Amino acid sequence: MAKTLNDLLDAAIRDEIAAQKFYLAALEKTNNPRLKELFKSVAKEEKGHERILKGVKEMGIYDGTLPVDEESVRKIENAHVIPDEEPIEEMSIERAMEVAMKKENKASQVYGHMEQTSTRDELKKLFSSLSSDERRHAKTIDEHYRILTGQMGRED
Ligand SMILES: [Fe+2]
Ligand SMILES: [Fe+2]
Repeated sequence: MAKTLNDLLDAAIRDEIAAQKFYLAALEKTNNPRLKELFKSVAKEEKGHERILKGVKEMGIYDGTLPVDEESVRKIENAHVIPDEEPIEEMSIERAMEVAMKKENKASQVYGHMEQTSTRDELKKLFSSLSSDERRHAKTIDEHYRILTGQMGRED
């Protein structure tokens, strides 16, 4: 069956919920207060993305039956998913952060692609803002990762 804008938004909502679960599980893997704070704040922002996407869908600003290509729905469904990802319970904290950076870079690319392929200005803006949020997530996680692995030297 042909895919619609509502299918695309639903797929994005599912992906954002899965991302929250990942960060809430990551939070349980560490006692480091800075990392706990990091995961908590990223999970909160993914929750914010879920709310924004649900809002777009529920407010009915767009015709939810607009056709979209199946490939885009598949991409967005897995925006925060990387191939060969083992269950988070099996990951070390370093690995969880490496996976998280990949997830965020991928999500940023997927939303960036959606921005480029959307024909409506408001949707372009929505995807552009999601894409830059995800890019920021990747950057913040990367900064914490460097501190954790000592790549930035000692912090005083
Ligand atoms: Fe997100
Ligand atoms: Fe994210």
